[in-house]
Amino acid sequence: FDYAAPVNEPVYSYAPGSPERAALKKQLAAFKAETADIPMYIGGKEVRTGKTVDLRPPHEIKHKLGHFHMGDASHIKDAIAAALEAREKWAKMDWESRAGIFLRAADLIATKYRYHMNGATMLGQSKNAYQAEIDSACELIDFLRWNVHYLSEIYRQQPVSSPGIHNRMEYRPLEGFVLAVTPFNFTAIGGNLPTSAAMCGNVVVWKPANTQVFAAQMFMKIMIEAGLPAGVINLVYAPGPLIGDVCFADPHFAGIHFTGSTGVFQTMWKTIGENIAKYKTYPRIVGETGGKDFVLIHKSADVDVSVTALARGAFEYQGQKCSAASRAYLPSNIAEEIKSKLVAQLKTMKMGTTEDFSNFINAVIDERSFDKIAQYIDNAKKDPAAKIIAGGNYNKSEGYFIEPTVIETTDPKYVTMCEEIFGPVLTIHVYDAEKFEEIMQVVDSTSEYALTGSIIAQDRYAVELATRTLENAAGNFYINDKPTGAVVGQQPFGGARASGTNDKAGSMLNLYRWLSARAIKETF
Ligand code: SER
Repeated sequence: FDYAAPVNEPVYSYAPGSPERAALKKQLAAFKAETADIPMYIGGKEVRTGKTVDLRPPHEIKHKLGHFHMGDASHIKDAIAAALEAREKWAKMDWESRAGIFLRAADLIATKYRYHMNGATMLGQSKNAYQAEIDSACELIDFLRWNVHYLSEIYRQQPVSSPGIHNRMEYRPLEGFVLAVTPFNFTAIGGNLPTSAAMCGNVVVWKPANTQVFAAQMFMKIMIEAGLPAGVINLVYAPGPLIGDVCFADPHFAGIHFTGSTGVFQTMWKTIGENIAKYKTYPRIVGETGGKDFVLIHKSADVDVSVTALARGAFEYQGQKCSAASRAYLPSNIAEEIKSKLVAQLKTMKMGTTEDFSNFINAVIDERSFDKIAQYIDNAKKDPAAKIIAGGNYNKSEGYFIEPTVIETTDPKYVTMCEEIFGPVLTIHVYDAEKFEEIMQVVDSTSEYALTGSIIAQDRYAVELATRTLENAAGNFYINDKPTGAVVGQQPFGGARASGTNDKAGSMLNLYRWLSARAIKETF
């Protein structure tokens, strides 16, 4: 039962005039013509509470896409009960039979629901067509297929036996339920967090961010069509703290698969710690929790490579990738050239709705995020240590639009060089090109997070030195590239320090966390 490594799902280009673009536009129009009424999915049943929350495209806040039904503590308890009931059969099911469901879901997205998934992500989360395609189509499909492959690799790892002794390992699911809490910024993470645990035989309570619900429920429906039995994954909408209160108080709580903020993760960890004696088994705690990702440019760097790494790394999806470049260190010898080319490139980036495919920049996710980012920009405008060299304007009358903004600072420890902003704001610092070793120390010492980072250099010694010196500053390290866009099966993704437990998404490291092994020895 060896599942060969899959080929990564090809990326559609949606070129002007292509049938793919026409099909995606048709789906966008269909979504906009209806008002979706979105239930929770608990124990295979659609649950509507009548307590609804409206969904609106972040780039067109006057339009209502639909609403979802908010749950309360009783629904979370129902979801746990449904999961535990489903576990009776699911955990015992032959794993290849389980795998078939996830592989079928991947095929359904690839061939039947690609435009649904991308359209939902474009409208719900304000991603342009390309950003949606690499997320809700390709990355999600890849997670499903690659995890099946990796799981087959784990299952076949067996201990040695000897004459008279037969040893074997059983990779069992955890004894209880897993809670998956997923963020707005990647539909693929929304799909991966519940399914990677479920694939291993676990049952799941899945709580997506409110701003991800439109795409999340679309994926849930695809899982059901693919044959997922009732109760294996239960999709609930409820306030985050309430989910924690109910799930972490339950003796059957066996693990959390989380992507979101450092603060929320730490609070969860504390609560789990306080309840530790209640649980039947020590819960697995797996989290990816943000970043403050760097681009370090060496004096030997190619200027155009540097500019592209900054422009794409910092501003694709409005800088709302946890991997987004948000601080850059420019060497004095080429800093002016990089800055002027970067500023010129940003001027060519059109901003607007996702339905107009010529827009590169769309809206940030919600008002809270908009206000927070605007505050950082306003503070920089007033601060003598900072200077806005591109963008700096914002407007929320139609949608949450913020121009791609570059702040230059003389202080490498300036607030926007250190704090996570999660928006289209890049802060740059020009350093003395001859003081590379010193600047590397600054980069490392200000890396409270350690998710992604890039070194741009043509000098191989500089590449080697940065790779070694910054070995703990980024879980995903890029040489002569932007720090975003990890591909499943190629760059397993995750970071340490305040960025998470570094159990790389889409890898065996991650899947091991959802398995509880039994070693069996038989003597003849
Ligand atoms: N995997 C994404 C990236 O690498 C971030 O979650 O950009």
